Amino acid sequence: DPQNHQMEDIGSLGRLNCRAKGGASGFKVAILGAAGGIGQPLALLMKMNPLVSVLHLYDVVNTPGVTSDISHMDTGAVVRGFLGQQQLEEALIGMELVIIPAGVPRKPGMTRDDLFNINAGIVKTLCEGIAKCCPNAIVNVISNPVNSTVPIAAEVFKKAGTFDPKRLLGVTMLDVVRANTFVAEVLGLDPRDVDVPVVGGHAGVTILPLLSQVKPSCSFTPKEVDYLTDRIQNGGTEVVEAKAGAGSATLSMAYAAVKFADACLRGLRGDSGVVECAFVASQVTELPFFASKVRLGRTGVEEIHPLGPLNEYERTGLEKAKKELAASIQKGVTFIRK
Ligand code: NAD
Ligand code: LMR
Repeated sequence: DPQNHQMEDIGSLGRLNCRAKGGASGFKVAILGAAGGIGQPLALLMKMNPLVSVLHLYDVVNTPGVTSDISHMDTGAVVRGFLGQQQLEEALIGMELVIIPAGVPRKPGMTRDDLFNINAGIVKTLCEGIAKCCPNAIVNVISNPVNSTVPIAAEVFKKAGTFDPKRLLGVTMLDVVRANTFVAEVLGLDPRDVDVPVVGGHAGVTILPLLSQVKPSCSFTPKEVDYLTDRIQNGGTEVVEAKAGAGSATLSMAYAAVKFADACLRGLRGDSGVVECAFVASQVTELPFFASKVRLGRTGVEEIHPLGPLNEYERTGLEKAKKELAASIQKGVTFIRK
């Protein structure tokens, strides 16, 4: 197979025979949509992650080139490429974490929901493959609209009898990354020292930064609250407009996806105290899915943190967020149940 020049191809597992399946420790990770704007830098960063022993790169185009390129990096993970639907199952067998950035991105003037018609079907097909080939994998959904694609994934898994709410996570980490950056700028701090919880969902008003819970503890003027909330909620649109038709956030997204995937892998390894925001099946509100802080462990989402005390501004924002989120969740569920 010209895509996969691993040592197996030259008839051995290497002279010292210690790299079978990528070494004794580390996790097997697949990226679906690996040749895309997010997929390529995400593949690069995952190849650098010491917790990854095997990295499968799947796309419907261009994986031979991306795989060949990435596989020359002198880091531990063994990289294999898979091209086209007929290789999807092979790409998924044995995987412990599957990251999904497959699908079309926005252009200026579009909402994330405008991507539904194309991306819903893509996510459905990929999740059918996961249910069949690696039903126990942790799944990180990046494809937009996340508020609908996560419910779609859940419905596919339910249909297949494999749904475990602890293992399905919508990636909202970019909202947290942006919030940390913008808040740090206002406070004059290093973003690495700032922690902003962002709850709700991943589109417009459903993105709800809890500025009253920022760490280190601080206060903002009403003007700062308006500025920060608006900038965090519209960070994606800011990038879409700057790219002017060439797509949406890819580099900061790859960074955020790896930060999140690494947290999932540290949880799987058994590290304690791994807590990140994610869009998951949840009872934190009356909605079936909601993003909030979750504790990640050996079985995936092991604990969902409550929202904590909200101020009046945040309570108003929460009501708006829930209204839009309810409709987006229902749209995803209906797509599969119809
Ligand atoms: P892109 O067009 O650059 O790449 C998408 C890749 O998906 C392409 O390589 C394409 O070939 C592949 N693809 C299409 N159909 C596929 C299928 N059936 N199976 C496998 N792969 C398939 O887009 P991008 O900029 O990488 O964005 C990808 C998605 O991520 C978009 O939906 C975008 O809106 C979303 N996104 C989400 C967040 C977030 O915070 N969750 C952030 C940024 C982008
Ligand atoms: C983002 O927040 O950057 C992504 O959801 C992409 C987009 O369409 O804005």
